[in-house]
Amino acid sequence: MTILDLGSGFGEFCRFARERGAASVTGVEISTRMLAEAKNQTGDSGITYLNAAIEDHPIGGNAFDLIVSRLTLHYIKDYRGVVLAAFRGLREGGSFVFSVEHPICTALLKGWQEDAARNKLFWPVDDYQKEGERTHHWFVDGVVKYHRTVETYVNTLLAAGFRLTRLLEPRAGAAIPADRPDLAGAARRPPLLVIAARKPANAGAADNSQ
Ligand SMILES: C[S@@+](CC[C@H](N)C(=O)[O-])C[C@H]1O[C@@H](n2cnc3c(N)ncnc32)[C@H](O)[C@@H]1O
Repeated sequence: MTILDLGSGFGEFCRFARERGAASVTGVEISTRMLAEAKNQTGDSGITYLNAAIEDHPIGGNAFDLIVSRLTLHYIKDYRGVVLAAFRGLREGGSFVFSVEHPICTALLKGWQEDAARNKLFWPVDDYQKEGERTHHWFVDGVVKYHRTVETYVNTLLAAGFRLTRLLEPRAGAAIPADRPDLAGAARRPPLLVIAARKPANAGAADNSQ
């Protein structure tokens, strides 16, 4: 497969895909620091790392069999623009597969509410229907994410001409290792939303009207 990874970070997926037989992988990453480390970890001429914002990177038409994005699209304001670009960039029959922080996590960004003994009480969700920018502290102040509903994630794909092939809300298994108490939360609410969609064979032009 010829693969494009949007927001490739340290290049972990790029290397994984090559190890699994991908013909070539292109990683697009906005952070020069992440890219420097990715290049540091990668001695493989089948992987190309590009320093660019996903929104600005022109994806060649009918160029890829698979476009992947892991935990990045909730940082992108123009999700619909990325979806339309991915549709154009895929060959017919190609897939667009991505994970994002689950919308029940990006809605409020308050995290688990705990009692005095730090037992997790509940995960608060509010303003779920109010899509848009959320600013929070993650190592530094002012980290911006974009909340959108599951409906928007899915219907934007359908409007672009994609067929939905899978939607997953991964959960922690019943047996949570003692050294991973953080996973207990993942058994109660989904931290991630994973979506796979296919550009159909004989795909018509994308619906750009929405
Ligand atoms: C949570 S990390 C995930 C990295 C990688 N996909 C992985 O799974 O290991 C999100 C990545 O998206 C990158 N990113 C955020 N906004 C971006 C943008 N507009 N264009 C390109 N990359 C972006 C960040 O620099 C970061 O490397």
